[in-house]
Amino acid sequence: MNTALAPAAVEAGHRWVLPGGRAALLRLLRPGDRCAEQTFFNGLSLDSRHQRFHFGLRELSPALLTLLTDVDQRLHRAWVVEAEAPGRPVIADARFVCDPAQPSVAEFALAVADDWQGLGLGRRLMAHLATEARRQGVQQLFGDVLADNRRMLALMRESGARLRPHPDGAQLVRGTLTPGA
Ligand SMILES: CC(C)(COP(=O)(O)OP(=O)(O)OC[C@H]1O[C@@H](n2cnc3c(N)ncnc32)[C@H](O)[C@@H]1OP(=O)(O)O)[C@@H](O)C(=O)NCCC(=O)NCCS
Repeated sequence: MNTALAPAAVEAGHRWVLPGGRAALLRLLRPGDRCAEQTFFNGLSLDSRHQRFHFGLRELSPALLTLLTDVDQRLHRAWVVEAEAPGRPVIADARFVCDPAQPSVAEFALAVADDWQGLGLGRRLMAHLATEARRQGVQQLFGDVLADNRRMLALMRESGARLRPHPDGAQLVRGTLTPGA
């Protein structure tokens, strides 16, 4: 059964202890997260922001920020990871967006703050997205990645994604997971 149009998701968090001992908390994105998300995305290095959005972005425009934070948690599911530290800063963001015409197909994206990369958050978030997509009846979960994004390509390969050249050109690779398979 495709449950993409089921009632909005109920909050369920995870606590992860990372190499080095720092802890991180995964939770659903909330309506009040606009400021925290702005700080997170604007705090990414230019390179990470370029890898995430595929174009040079000095800072998020209000329109893009609205797109990222005005989330229904039905067709557009989004999570943040907070550092378990004073002020609980957002250190990662992961989401998938279902095609409204075909909710069993969804596009995912994720980003981890530069200081927190290489600690396994990307791998955990990828697994989380695949689990949630499967629960929701998503059959194809795809992500478009710049062809020079070695880390993300490695992560997708390791997650079992099928990597294909992107129809828009050689600068992009499309990785597709089949969460239900
Ligand atoms: C891509 C990204 C999400 C990965 O997150 P991360 O938390 O750094 O990833 P992990 O620590 O879980 O690493 C996962 C795997 O990636 C690969 N990897 C990690 N660092 C790497 C590097 N410098 N070069 C190549 N591969 C690397 C490894 O296979 C690694 O597994 P390992 O634990 O055996 O080293 C993160 O680097 C990021 O936010 N980048 C900018 C935004 C972006 O590219 N988003 C993807 C577009 S959708």
